[in-house]
Amino acid sequence: MELPFSQACENNKNPILNVLEVAFANASRVLEVGSGTGQHAVYFARKLSHLEWQASDQPAYLPGVKARIEKEGVPGQPLPVEFDVFQSAPHGQFDALFTANTCHIMPKEGVEALFNQLADKLKSVKHLCIYGPFNDNGHFTSDSNRAFNQSLRARDSQMGIRDKQWIAKLASQQGLSLKNIHAMPANNQILEFQR
Ligand SMILES: C[S@@+](CC[C@H](N)C(=O)[O-])C[C@H]1O[C@@H](n2cnc3c(N)ncnc32)[C@H](O)[C@@H]1O
Repeated sequence: MELPFSQACENNKNPILNVLEVAFANASRVLEVGSGTGQHAVYFARKLSHLEWQASDQPAYLPGVKARIEKEGVPGQPLPVEFDVFQSAPHGQFDALFTANTCHIMPKEGVEALFNQLADKLKSVKHLCIYGPFNDNGHFTSDSNRAFNQSLRARDSQMGIRDKQWIAKLASQQGLSLKNIHAMPANNQILEFQR
């Protein structure tokens, strides 16, 4: 099959890698939520060789992620598992969780569901990095994010850029405190949490 491809992933993978190298330095098993094209999964698994990188996504995305890992993954890299945040989390003792560009795609209830999982089946997770565009106390941080939000809302009224303060509050309710906010290119950020 033709592998799914995102130019944005190619552009952001090195800036994200620079953060994960430090944030996940003491981690060993990472669950990635919403792996999408699988480009991040194969790149970070190769560059962060102390980690086992478990990709996951909703069923429709799994064939593409699987094909990419089979073609470009590191030897022994696990194949992606099905994970919709509204459904039961995959088995396994994950000590880190990474997700990119998902909080504005899933409904707000999905973000809440993900944090509920972090208090339940995923409570072994100690290091959490969330990449994407975020608002600051209800304000867009750039005109391009404002326009992006409009295009998301036109696609689906439940999509939308979330407030980083709201996400930090959900995290703190589950024992995860905001450790760092990393500025990323193209008006994105990584919210780094630690338990
Ligand atoms: C814009 S894509 C981002 C893909 C990839 N992480 C990236 O950065 O290119 C949004 C991703 O969110 C995932 N997603 C949306 N709703 C979800 C849900 N309820 N549970 C799990 N993943 C979800 C989609 O399946 C998709 O992989």
